[in-house]
Amino acid sequence: MKIPFFDFSQIYKIYSDDFNAIFKRISNKGSFIKQKDLELFEYNLSKFHGIKYSVGVGNATDAMQLLLIADNIGASDEVLFCSHTMSATASAIKSVGAKPIPVNCNNEYLIDHDDIESRINSRTKGIFVTQLNGRIADMKEIKKIANKHNLKIFEDAAQAIGSTYFNNAAGSFGVGGCISFYPAKILGCFGDGGAVVTNNKKIYEKISLLRDHGRRNLNVECWGYNSRLDNFQAAILNFLLKKIKKNINHRRKIAKLYFQEFKKNPFIKCPPNNLIEKNRFDNFQNFEIQCLNRNKLREYLFLNKIGTILPWGGKAVHEFKNLNIHSKKMKFTETIMRKSLLIPMNQFLSIKQAIIVAKTVNNFYKI
Ligand SMILES: Cc1ncc(COP(=O)(O)O)c(C=O)c1O
Repeated sequence: MKIPFFDFSQIYKIYSDDFNAIFKRISNKGSFIKQKDLELFEYNLSKFHGIKYSVGVGNATDAMQLLLIADNIGASDEVLFCSHTMSATASAIKSVGAKPIPVNCNNEYLIDHDDIESRINSRTKGIFVTQLNGRIADMKEIKKIANKHNLKIFEDAAQAIGSTYFNNAAGSFGVGGCISFYPAKILGCFGDGGAVVTNNKKIYEKISLLRDHGRRNLNVECWGYNSRLDNFQAAILNFLLKKIKKNINHRRKIAKLYFQEFKKNPFIKCPPNNLIEKNRFDNFQNFEIQCLNRNKLREYLFLNKIGTILPWGGKAVHEFKNLNIHSKKMKFTETIMRKSLLIPMNQFLSIKQAIIVAKTVNNFYKI
């Protein structure tokens, strides 16, 4: 049996009648840009997330860029980010003229709050926290540091829809959060899509302007961009949002199985077992393991027709030479990047397939 890391064609196969109906309805009306489905999706997303405002934009990278612009981050500012993230987090900071400063990750793949303070100087204006793999970083500690140094918190919540920390949703801890609807995400659309979620009315209003050329009614109020979530994508997302809880529950069942199967395997380090934690709810966008002989294990899984992914191609952001990010003391993150692997984790993976994945990993280590 072939088990891909993620099968992009599955979603249409399952709901083709519903998607065809959406396509027909919207195409017949010609309602493509800034229409009712987008408004409805923004309302539904806010409600689902328990956050006051949502603005649909072109993708999460744009969302991060617009969030920084809306909060006046720009030239000569520095913004910290965890180097175990997609380069998109750093490139959003760079794109507004600020300098991205990498910080180590911890053993949970999240920004190491103990490593933040040594990276702060008089130019530091904020921390862009990536809530990686659908797990929220230790925001209590991060908030303490941010308050002490008068820094803003921004969240790369690209992978964290539906995740909470002490009952607060991803995106609610600072200026705002940026969600991705890339097709492989828990809530994925038929192409690129993203949103900013925020409890701050001013930020909401500014981003609503920025994403549409700075326009309000017939007036152009500021310089802007074109980054609107298409009405068609919004309609797809409205439909799929109704299935998200079921989808996350399925992921948590797969996680339970992986935790059980790998308990007997000393060569695999699992992510934190959120199924027994009280104050966090992880959506399990990914299941990232650290493993002995990672590359050989990956090859073995490939030969057994099981797809895996090296997080970010196996490198932390500061390790991509052409980005010219100079940083000292990132050893911990680099060590993690050499050991970590994403194994299949998604709503299309059956429990039977997940058992095969786990058993094949264990077979590699002769367990
Ligand atoms: C952690 C993280 N940040 C940022 C992004 C960028 O999202 P988008 O492709 O919607 O711009 C992604 C998407 O894969 C991501 O996983």
